[in-house]
Amino acid sequence: MPSNSLSIVDNRTGKKYEIPIEEGEVIHTAALRQIKVKDDDFGLMGYDPAFTNTASCKSKVTYIDGDKGILRYRGYPIEELAEKSNYMETAYLIVKGELPNKQHFDAWVNNIKVHTMVHENIKKSMEGFRYDAHPMGMMVGTIGALSTFYPEAANIFDLELRRLQTRRLIGKVPTLAAFAYRHTRGLPYVYPDNELSYTGNLLSMLFKMTELKYKPNPVLERALDILFILHADHEQNCSTNAIRCVGSSQVDPYSAVAAAVAALYGPLHGGANEAVVRMLEQIGSIDRVPEAIKRFKAGEGRLMGFGHRVYKNYDPRAKILKRTAYEVFEVTGKNPLIDIALELERIALQDDYFVSRKLYPNVDFYSGIIYQAMGFPTSMFPVLFAIPRTSGWMAQWAEMVRDPEQKIARPRQVYIGENLRKWLPLEKRPEPDQREDAVSTRI
Ligand code: CMC
Repeated sequence: MPSNSLSIVDNRTGKKYEIPIEEGEVIHTAALRQIKVKDDDFGLMGYDPAFTNTASCKSKVTYIDGDKGILRYRGYPIEELAEKSNYMETAYLIVKGELPNKQHFDAWVNNIKVHTMVHENIKKSMEGFRYDAHPMGMMVGTIGALSTFYPEAANIFDLELRRLQTRRLIGKVPTLAAFAYRHTRGLPYVYPDNELSYTGNLLSMLFKMTELKYKPNPVLERALDILFILHADHEQNCSTNAIRCVGSSQVDPYSAVAAAVAALYGPLHGGANEAVVRMLEQIGSIDRVPEAIKRFKAGEGRLMGFGHRVYKNYDPRAKILKRTAYEVFEVTGKNPLIDIALELERIALQDDYFVSRKLYPNVDFYSGIIYQAMGFPTSMFPVLFAIPRTSGWMAQWAEMVRDPEQKIARPRQVYIGENLRKWLPLEKRPEPDQREDAVSTRI
């Protein structure tokens, strides 16, 4: 009997099964299908809503140890990348698997820059959105629309074409984000300035007014770069799962990225930092923090920016952002919300409710405060998340396309609906209220 296996006894039949254990702690749930009472049974399956204990893929991109608070891209600690790298280099690392040498880095930056412009019809279509359109809604629609401009992107098994779409998307997403922002402000769209860095150009497209050349503040340019490094990838989160799932139908990558952006739009994913800012504004002052903590403990709302499905320790990204916040405040002036946030953190980290549940600050606890200090409206927070996450999405998508073990994503279900029923003509059907299950069938 192999030692790396799991023995299962089915008490219904008394039969014993050996399931191999791979990679130290992984079993193929498909192996459970052999466990049956009768030959024509479906066999056992796993039930795991929200995939809390199911791996959907093998990946080499990002490693997280949530108990220890470790995050690494391609083996490099996030702390080191945030301190010594820049986002362009990190994007190369995430997409290609290695840090670039000087020659490869220069070529990469150049290859991204040549794709910062968008077709004029894209600009015109963005002009068609309502004056108060949410910039994330504009991003979902416009990124999806890019597939109609690059129909060759449908050839997803062509390596060179995959690389081209990756560079295009990383190059164009900041331009679309800035156009969306300018649209909501009623300001003319600003074209890319390829003499500037990736984040410098973004700041220029967002905030340039009548000056001939926009000069980004180097501290804010670097702070945005750090934020982008920290948001570049985070393994199988909701939006990455979305791009892998939608991409598994072999649709083009623009449509798959649009699905990922849609997933990120949700308040439980890309919108949590906005909720943090709202919560801090509602608390309003340090002396009201103890009372707010009491409410959270009583289940009246949550301490937003605290807790994480994976991290059961301080999110390493939050530690870095706490420092970055003060560097930004040197330029922008202090965002007074930081004092409330620090007091919340101080009290929560000493309180048994939060300690026993392993609830620590996550990346969103400080990012919104920084974005607000930099002058971004809250509706732009998830957009600023989507820009750097594009490199992570594209790396994960390409990994999925190349993986011979992957197929179209198609989970099983546990059917709990009606058994076979008799069809009745319209006039013979009972009123809905007379049916026992009327409430449960309403949507
Ligand atoms: N404030 C108060 N109580 C909390 C919080 C919180 N922020 N988070 C979790 N809990 C409690 C929860 O009530 C539960 O208590 P009990 O065991 O007594 O019922 C326990 O902790 C476990 O919570 P859970 O909801 O089962 O945990 P989860 O893994 O399903 O949820 C979470 C993770 C991030 C959705 C949740 O912690 C939360 O809602 N946090 C606030 C929102 C937030 O900050 N979201 C951003 C996440 S980071 C984004 C990213 O990495 O991209």
